[in-house]
Amino acid sequence: MTDLTKGPGSPEPLPAVDGAPAASHMLDVDDIEVRYGAIRALKGVSFHVDQGEIVALLGANGAGKTTTQKTVSGMMRPSLGSITYEGQRIDGIPAHSLINLGICHVPEGRHVFPRMTVDENLEMGAFRFKRQDMDVRAHVLDLFPRLQERIKQQAGTLSGGEQQMLAIGRALMGKPRLLLLDEPSMGLAPLIVAQIFDIIRQVNADGVTVLLVEQNAAQALALANRGYVLETGEIVMSGAGKDLLADDRIRAAYLGEEIAAS
Ligand SMILES: Nc1ncnc2c1ncn2[C@@H]1O[C@H](COP(=O)(O)OP(=O)(O)O)[C@@H](O)[C@H]1O
Ligand SMILES: [Mg+2]
Repeated sequence: MTDLTKGPGSPEPLPAVDGAPAASHMLDVDDIEVRYGAIRALKGVSFHVDQGEIVALLGANGAGKTTTQKTVSGMMRPSLGSITYEGQRIDGIPAHSLINLGICHVPEGRHVFPRMTVDENLEMGAFRFKRQDMDVRAHVLDLFPRLQERIKQQAGTLSGGEQQMLAIGRALMGKPRLLLLDEPSMGLAPLIVAQIFDIIRQVNADGVTVLLVEQNAAQALALANRGYVLETGEIVMSGAGKDLLADDRIRAAYLGEEIAAS
C-alpha cells in the first residue's frame, strides 16, 4: 500500500507506552475480510477516521466501497478483522443499534420513503428519539431551503437532487456523530453536485465526522482531509486529500475524465 503521508522525512510514530491507552481514532477498521458467500469482497481492509475529519473512500466500480460502508454501519458482518468505534468493538452489532451510538448511513440510491411527505421523512429520521428535536429540524431546513419549500410534498415526487438532500437531512435528524455517505452526488447535475458538496462541508463544520464514498474523485479529495483508494477489495493507497489529488497515479486512474472535462 502506498501511504503518501509516509514520505521521506515524515516523523515516525511514537512507540506505545506500556499501560497507556493507545492513541485512539474515532473509527478503526482493522484488517476486515467481508464475503458474499464464496466471493471475498474485502480482503483485509484497514483504515481509520479521526473525530472531525472528512475521509474519502475512492475506487472503481466493484472495488468494495459500498461493502466497506455497509460493514461499518452494521448491515454486514466481517468474517475476519475488527471494527472499533469510540473505543468499543462494533463489528457484529446490528445497524439499528449502531444508530444509537451515532453512526448513520445514507446508502447509495437515496432511499427516501416515497409516499411520505418531506416533513414525515424528516420525522422518521428522528425515530430513535421520543420526539424530533425542533432545533435540529430547523437547522436541517436552514441547510436545505429546498426541503422547506417542499415540506408537504410527497418525497417520491421530488427531483433526484432534492431526494438526496432529503436523505441527508433525514440522517441528520438522527444527530449522527459519524455520517457515512455512499455516492451522494451520483446521477446529479453539476450545479446540484456542487450544492451537495457544500452541504457536506457545512455538516462537517458543525462537528459531524464524515466517511464519504464518491466517484467524483476530484471534488471528494478537494473536500476531504484524507483519502483511501480501494482496488478489488484492498486499500492500495492513502494520504492527505491534497496529496492524493496531486498524485500522478490517482490523476491517471481516477481524474482523467474530470481533468479533461474541466
Ligand atoms: N449482494 C452481493 N452479492 C454478491 N456479490 C456482491 C454483492 N454486493 C456486492 N458484491 C460484490 O462485491 C464486490 C464489491 O462491491 P461493492 O462494495 O458494491 O463495490 P463498490 O461500491 O466499490 O462499487 C464486487 O465484486 C461486487 O460484485
Ligand atoms: Mg457502491
